[in-house]
Amino acid sequence: MSTLSDLVSRQTALDAAGIEWMRSLVSDWQLLADLSFADLILWIPRKEGPGWVAVAQMRPTTGPTVYHDDVVGMVVAEGERPLIDTAWKEHRICREGDPDWSSGVPVREETIPVRRGLEGEFIGVIQRSTNLSSARTPSRLELTYLQSASDMAQMVAEGRFPFPEEEPTLVRSPRVGDGLLRLDRAGRVTYASPNALSAYRRLGLQADLVGAELGRTTADLCYSDEPINEDLMHVASGRAPRETEVERGGIVVLLRAIPLVVGGGRIGALVLIRDVTELRRRERELLTKDATIREIHHRVKNNLQTVAALLRLQARRLGNPEGREALEEAVRRVGSIAIVHEILAQMPEEMVEFDDIADRVVAMTAEVSVAHVTPKRIGSFGVLPAAVATPIAMVLTELLQNAVEHGFSHASGSIQVIVSRDANHLEVVVADDGKGLPTDFDLEATTSLGLQIVRTLVVGELSGRLSIAPREGGGTEVTISIPVQTG
Ligand SMILES: Nc1ncnc2c1ncn2[C@@H]1O[C@H](COP(=O)(O)OP(=O)(O)OP(=O)(O)O)[C@@H](O)[C@H]1O
Ligand SMILES: [Mg+2]
Repeated sequence: MSTLSDLVSRQTALDAAGIEWMRSLVSDWQLLADLSFADLILWIPRKEGPGWVAVAQMRPTTGPTVYHDDVVGMVVAEGERPLIDTAWKEHRICREGDPDWSSGVPVREETIPVRRGLEGEFIGVIQRSTNLSSARTPSRLELTYLQSASDMAQMVAEGRFPFPEEEPTLVRSPRVGDGLLRLDRAGRVTYASPNALSAYRRLGLQADLVGAELGRTTADLCYSDEPINEDLMHVASGRAPRETEVERGGIVVLLRAIPLVVGGGRIGALVLIRDVTELRRRERELLTKDATIREIHHRVKNNLQTVAALLRLQARRLGNPEGREALEEAVRRVGSIAIVHEILAQMPEEMVEFDDIADRVVAMTAEVSVAHVTPKRIGSFGVLPAAVATPIAMVLTELLQNAVEHGFSHASGSIQVIVSRDANHLEVVVADDGKGLPTDFDLEATTSLGLQIVRTLVVGELSGRLSIAPREGGGTEVTISIPVQTG
């Protein structure tokens, strides 16, 4: 549980709908802080006794903060901050006449009641504190910001902001500093911040932006030959609280419209603008990189299959049965590496779901064996780093091969691959119920290739442990244990 919902459910009596509204508000109130050049604190009435608890705080990115310390969790009694009490009781925005000097700098305090929807109840109060120490004669930009902030504050008090139906986006929404336009009721630009203007210049706008009808202008710029995109028109004219992307000549700009509706009437809109060209370019680059890696794996797999086919051809032409067997084994080994690459080629991620690979290795063993055995996997490998997956697949091939090759004198038997995994280790047991190890068997002394491959990979490459022992009830049991982090 996040600290926010934890705090809210412990200290306040907000119901589910209230919590939802509050979440939606604090996920979007950076905008209000930035436009106001002010700190925001959200106060919710306490469950026990009259008073308030601060559940969230936002600092402006456009100006100096008032609160250097974290205030979330702070409790004030009723009467301690009369502005909060008044906004709550009288359902109106309150502003103090004189700046408060108690923190050493002049601070202007305001409070805004928060209403949950047009017909909803009031759920809390936003305290807006402006550090006035750096205030000077406001510029056109600052005046537009402050006017917009005051419109938005009004919307919060009327239950018109946030827009709960607005879908959260993956890319960070544009902020005030990225670029801001203010539109009038007809969708005409009345103010353009320098960043917003630059973004439109990059999109190819030659004419003035102020005075232009943003929906038309944007559509003309970006879709001159195509039918007009309804969504774009809707957003760029400031009618819908949504985001949309426009593109021209490789420049990609994200627009976010915030319709301003105060006192029942639409008075205009804010349009936040962010140039996301670089972001989109990097995304595309990553995609191509993924595609390239996949293609390489695919080719490696094809090449390995060619090698296997060559070896198989050569094996067929050999008269010497021992030589032929050796080549056929090489075919199998190359084949198991090919399987791994085929799986890797399908997955752009670096983590590999290993159960698929294991099952295919198991199936391959069953196919090539003379004896009638049905190996079975018990337990799950989960996801493994690609670097670990390749050697484990090879180890598994060798162990299964041994089980079918040496395990069975009679024509049938069972083989189990038992997998278990804890936070730090992967353990795999390959058990057969065959004739068991030769009496003089010594793992350290064996010079044959199969187990040497296994030992080199498990001990050398994966820093794991390997043991072979007679299985209880007959047969052989090989256990490998490898350190792998869950992740
Ligand atoms: N599951 C098993 N059951 C019985 N004996 C086994 C088993 N696994 C290994 N052995 C014994 O260990 C020996 C060494 O195995 P290893 O895989 O290293 O060589 P190999 O299978 O004989 O040849 P290759 O190099 O082709 O794999 C085998 O010859 C066999 O005697
Ligand atoms: Mg072997």
